[in-house]
Amino acid sequence: MLETSLRPRVLDDFIGQNKIKDNLKITMAAARKRDEALDHILLYGPPGLGKTTLAYIIAAEMGVSIKITSGPAIERTGDLAAILTNLRAQDILFIDEIHRLSRVVEEVLYPAMEDFALDIMIGKGPGAKSLRLKLPPFTLIGATTRYAMLSSPLRDRFGVVNRLDFYDQDSIQNILQRSANILKIKTEDAGIREIACRARGTPRVANRLLKRVRDYAEIKASGVITLAVASEALSKLEVDMLGLDEIDHKILHTIIDKFSGGPVGLETIAASISEESDTVMEVYEPYLLQLGFLDRTPRGRVATQRAYDHLGIPFKKAKQAQPGLWKLKDEES
Ligand SMILES: Nc1ncnc2c1ncn2[C@@H]1O[C@H](COP(=O)(O)OP(=O)(O)O)[C@@H](O)[C@H]1O
Ligand SMILES: [Mg+2]
Repeated sequence: MLETSLRPRVLDDFIGQNKIKDNLKITMAAARKRDEALDHILLYGPPGLGKTTLAYIIAAEMGVSIKITSGPAIERTGDLAAILTNLRAQDILFIDEIHRLSRVVEEVLYPAMEDFALDIMIGKGPGAKSLRLKLPPFTLIGATTRYAMLSSPLRDRFGVVNRLDFYDQDSIQNILQRSANILKIKTEDAGIREIACRARGTPRVANRLLKRVRDYAEIKASGVITLAVASEALSKLEVDMLGLDEIDHKILHTIIDKFSGGPVGLETIAASISEESDTVMEVYEPYLLQLGFLDRTPRGRVATQRAYDHLGIPFKKAKQAQPGLWKLKDEES
């Protein structure tokens, strides 16, 4: 509910990511001018940065219908065929988590994307015939948190590829202010700024923190989100000064305390904190990497001096020499 009401509906309300917005505006204007379907668009980046939001906005701006599905939801080729044959000209098909499409389904997608054609098999065995159906020209918008997991034939069929990055402080502050206005929350600038600092450059996290700080402000204070209220509420939520939460801390402590700073493999980290390795990799790591707290090396993850400093743990130089050595070894072989 919260996400839907806070989700911007038009491009002008979509804050930040200016390069992507500018490019999309041009692509959309050109398609409109030629009265053609938009090129297929791939959106990738960590969760909560606005991929789904952008897909809805593009459909709204183009004035077309959008059909929403996801990689794991399309189990059989027949499922995809049913979706594709129900699209109208210029409609948008949004496939979330597109990296999780099965190979056979993906192969049906290739001619659909490239030639707006659907190849279906009629009958079985030696008498089977292949029939080619024409599809209306449609636009596929794919979203993924794992760009590297897309096969290259699939990647190559997207005309527009956009990588969403973490938002800067100003943009997050603007997003928070916009959300506060929509939810009619009273705020002071310093309070908003405090939440923005701890929102990991991620709109979804920013909105979630805003809502929880509002609860705190209403119950424990006068209802206004001031600096003091925000910082008290956030420390109660165990969100630290950089926005790291309990799980981020567990990850860093595992690497530093249990594995002397690393290198340690992703699976091992995930197992020792009882999380899925995909979750660690897709949800937690990108921000830790962005902060420069983690390094990825061929032998696994390594905690950097910055991570030690942030946690207030004395940095042990000797351990840090390891990743360098491994890299050297790797280069030699
Ligand atoms: N650029 C933005 N401006 C304002 N709000 C945003 C923006 N991007 C995302 N949001 C908010 O963050 C939430 C999460 O975005 P979403 O599109 O679901 O992320 P993703 O699909 O990348 O995981 C949305 O519901 C919306 O409220
Ligand atoms: Mg999404």
